[in-house]
Amino acid sequence: MERPAWAPPGIDLTRPSVARMYDYYLGGSHNFEVDRAAARQALEVWPDLPAIMRANRAFMRRAVRHAVACGVTQFLDIGSGIPTFGNVHEVARAANPEARVAYVDHDPVAVAHSQAIIAGDGRTAVLQADIRKPAEILQSPEVSGLLDLERPVALLLVAVLHFLQDADHPEEIVAHLRDTLAPGSCLIVSHATDEGQYGELEEDKDVYKRMGSPLIMRSRHAVERFFDGFSLVDPGVVFLSEWQPDAESEEAGDPARYSGYAGFGIK
Ligand SMILES: C[S@@+](CC[C@H](N)C(=O)[O-])C[C@H]1O[C@@H](n2cnc3c(N)ncnc32)[C@H](O)[C@@H]1O
Repeated sequence: MERPAWAPPGIDLTRPSVARMYDYYLGGSHNFEVDRAAARQALEVWPDLPAIMRANRAFMRRAVRHAVACGVTQFLDIGSGIPTFGNVHEVARAANPEARVAYVDHDPVAVAHSQAIIAGDGRTAVLQADIRKPAEILQSPEVSGLLDLERPVALLLVAVLHFLQDADHPEEIVAHLRDTLAPGSCLIVSHATDEGQYGELEEDKDVYKRMGSPLIMRSRHAVERFFDGFSLVDPGVVFLSEWQPDAESEEAGDPARYSGYAGFGIK
């Protein structure tokens, strides 16, 4: 398969990537046939995936605006994905032009495309790193050179923690990040759940599991646990469409259709 100019050298074009599948659900163009084929299989089981992903992005935008309204101007977005409409720095800057955003992802296409989008922008940075190594992220020149960790930061873990197995101890990773952040910092989380419209999946239907990136569904209680040490703002951990809907919100129907939980906490 020929590598298009936007794809960094060395990436495996024969295996689907969760970042590029997500880009496909959202209507982006940074994906390959191998990603689209896997995404189509996932859509057979979860036809609402594009609507769920749009609801996830809409939650992220509302949460970023809420953080800016709380006076926070620094953002650390881990598992930031392939840039698409309404990126964190665009939403934050619209509310406060001083906003600084560090993007972190382990996917090379997400990183390369983020670098292309923010080239020459001194108030954004991009780092290729794994959330399972939070100390490396915090100490990296990209993050520590851009964000003043003595001041509040909004930490976005949006649709990423469900790619961590229980054996990765995601609660310890979040606690490590929390303990480094200054008081007044915010935690913004969304997370897949099987407590919504789609219950537990039969194993052979689980495309993500078959491709080696299983989606770990967690309960509302488990998602609330990520907010230990933070005060949850109203309405707490709720389905994506229920988190402070605004005039732009267009998610219709039963909130359980959006099989993901969302929450916002302040340290
Ligand atoms: C579903 S996308 C979410 C993108 C964005 N946060 C959003 O909600 O629109 C999940 C992203 O998490 C990234 N990711 C998954 N596991 C990761 C890990 N261990 N470390 C860093 N990034 C990870 C994937 O590469 C992908 O870009």
